[in-house]
Amino acid sequence: MKKIISVINQKGGVGKTTTVVNLSTALAQLGKKILVIDLDPQGNATTGLGKSNNEIEKNIYKAIIGQSDLKKCIQNSCVKNLDIIGSNVNLSGLEVETASNPNRAFLLKEILTEKNKQLFDKYDNIFIDCPPSLSLLTVMSLVVADELLVPLQTEFFALEGISQLVKTIERIKINLNPNLEIRGILLTMFDKRNKLSTQVDDEARKYFKEKVYKTVIPRNVRLSEAPSHGVPCIVYDKMCLGSQSYISLANEFIEQGNVENI
Ligand SMILES: Nc1ncnc2c1ncn2[C@@H]1O[C@H](COP(=O)(O)OP(=O)(O)O)[C@@H](O)[C@H]1O
Ligand SMILES: [Mg+2]
Repeated sequence: MKKIISVINQKGGVGKTTTVVNLSTALAQLGKKILVIDLDPQGNATTGLGKSNNEIEKNIYKAIIGQSDLKKCIQNSCVKNLDIIGSNVNLSGLEVETASNPNRAFLLKEILTEKNKQLFDKYDNIFIDCPPSLSLLTVMSLVVADELLVPLQTEFFALEGISQLVKTIERIKINLNPNLEIRGILLTMFDKRNKLSTQVDDEARKYFKEKVYKTVIPRNVRLSEAPSHGVPCIVYDKMCLGSQSYISLANEFIEQGNVENI
């Protein structure tokens, strides 16, 4: 079953974390069991789900370097059915600290799919929130993922960024993870008054066809306010357009799974 999904785009500020937090919450509220792994040293998904990104022991960095038991790193979030393995700023040192390890790209895969497999049986999906780069952390997530969800901000240069990402994915497929697939591309921060938004929408659908989700996430101020309250937008204001869009995305996401299982 395809269940580990990396939310990836090497550009910052395109809506990766917002998508991880709110899609996970929407799925959890629809009864799915979800785990979020925050692989960005900034720890925004961790705080966005109401957890501290200063937790010394319970974090993904400690688990990757083998100093914390992975099981102990899993925390309940502020949402039922939604667990999280949080981040910590120390994660930013991992690349340098593991420089002499030729297998370092596989460290995350080892702890998630080999050493602790049974821990994850209960989850329907595991979402990995990636940092805004094509660094070791992102490569680690590409190596362990079954599928990718790529948020694409509807602005100029969005499609150029994605062609670089597609090249990286192709390289990873050849060398490290042959089964990796893009599950979906999500248009974010859409502004229907802006012609550019519509142009990026058209272009993306022309190029990536049905891979682009029908659901489009609008620019919505509630989505940007929620993190400062330490709750997902869907908890902060369920009826706002941003929340409703992520709920619609969750339904589309589940539908995709159903088609695959036929
Ligand atoms: N649809 C949206 N409408 C308005 N603001 C958004 C939207 N999506 C994300 N944001 C805000 O934009 C900023 C970047 O989003 P974020 O999800 O953190 O991106 P990334 O994880 O790709 O760096 C954050 O301040 C976030 O609250
Ligand atoms: Mg982020």
